[in-house]
Amino acid sequence: MDKIGTDVAFAAQLLEEDGIVAIATETVYGLAANAYSESSVMKVFEAKQRPSFDPLIVHTHSIEQVESFTSEFPAELKKLANAFWPGPLTLILPKNNKIPNIVTSGLKTVAVRIPRKTRTLELLKKLPFPLAAPSANPFGYISPTTAQHVIKQLGDKIDYVLEDGDAEVGLESTIVGYEDGQYIVYRAGGISIEEIEAIVGPVLLKNHSSSNPKAPGMLASHYAPKDVRVVHAEEFDGEDDESIYYLRFDKKLKNIPGHRQVILSKSSDLTVAARNLFASLRQLDEIPSCKTIVIEYVPNKGLGKAINDRLKRASAH
Ligand code: TXA
Ligand code: MG
Repeated sequence: MDKIGTDVAFAAQLLEEDGIVAIATETVYGLAANAYSESSVMKVFEAKQRPSFDPLIVHTHSIEQVESFTSEFPAELKKLANAFWPGPLTLILPKNNKIPNIVTSGLKTVAVRIPRKTRTLELLKKLPFPLAAPSANPFGYISPTTAQHVIKQLGDKIDYVLEDGDAEVGLESTIVGYEDGQYIVYRAGGISIEEIEAIVGPVLLKNHSSSNPKAPGMLASHYAPKDVRVVHAEEFDGEDDESIYYLRFDKKLKNIPGHRQVILSKSSDLTVAARNLFASLRQLDEIPSCKTIVIEYVPNKGLGKAINDRLKRASAH
C-alpha cells in the first residue's frame, strides 16, 4: 500500500520523468501521463492493456491551458465549460500539434476536461503539461472509485497513486461535442443530460459503441464482470438459487435472503446510487460463490440514464 500517498511534488517529479501516476478525480480514478510525451502515454496503454484505437481524455487546470493545445474553442462549448468546469464534463475540441496522435488515436479532435479534486488540481497547476488519463482499470473492467481499487488491479504496473479520497460522483464524465450546429452527447455520465439541456437546449444523445468510429471507446464488454442480467423492477422470473446475487436500486426483494442482495440507495437517491454503483459491482464480482448477478434498472432520469447505460454494458457479452 505504500504506493498510495498524498505527495504532490513526488507525483509531479514522477510525471516529469515520464512515469505514470494514478490521480483522483470526482468521477473515477485516472491513470495519468504527460499528454505531450508519446513514450509516457504509451506506458498507460500498456499498463491498461488498452487497444490503441481507444483515445484518452486530457486533464488540465484552466481554459487558458486548453487553448494552448487546441486550435479552436467554439463559444457553444465554452458555455458548457463555464457552467460545469471544474467537474464531470469532457468536451471534444479540435487539437493542435502539441497533442501527439497516440493520445487521440489519430483523431483530429481531443477530449478535454478540468477535474474537481483539490490535490489533482494542485498537481495539474504544478506541471508544464496537461495529463492524458483514462480510467485507472485494466481494459474491460469496472472503473476504480477508490485508491485501493487502483492498487488492487494495477499496483505493480504504476509508479504512484496520488490519493484524494473516494470518487464522489462515481460515474465517468459526460462527453459532449458540437458538430454541424448540434450538441452531441457521446457518453452519458456524471453531469445529467437535463443539466446540460438547461444551459444549451436540446442535445442529441449518441452513446458511442465500438460501431461508432468517432468514439471508439466503451466496447460492449467494458464493464462486464461474471454473468450479468439487467431487468426491469420485479421482472426477473428465473429460478433463484444460492449462486444468484441481486443488485437493487432502493429495496430488497422480500423472498430472497438479504445476504445475496446489495442496495444502491436506501433513500432512492440517484446521486447516491451513482456513487455506489462501481464499488457494488466489484463487491459482487469478488464473491466466489456468486455466479450470476441480477441487476435492476434504476429510474431512467437524471443520473439514472448514465447508470442504466453502464448496467447495459455490464450485461453485454
Ligand atoms: O470521468 C472520466 O472521464 C474519467 C476520468 C479519469 O477523467 N476518464 C475516463 O476515461 O473515463 P476513459 O479512457 O475510460 O474514457 C474516455 C472516453 C472513451 O470512451 C473515448 O472513446 C472517449 O473518451 N474519447 C476520447 N477522445 C475522444 C474524441 N476525440 N472524440 C470522441 N470521444 C473521445
Ligand atoms: Mg474507462
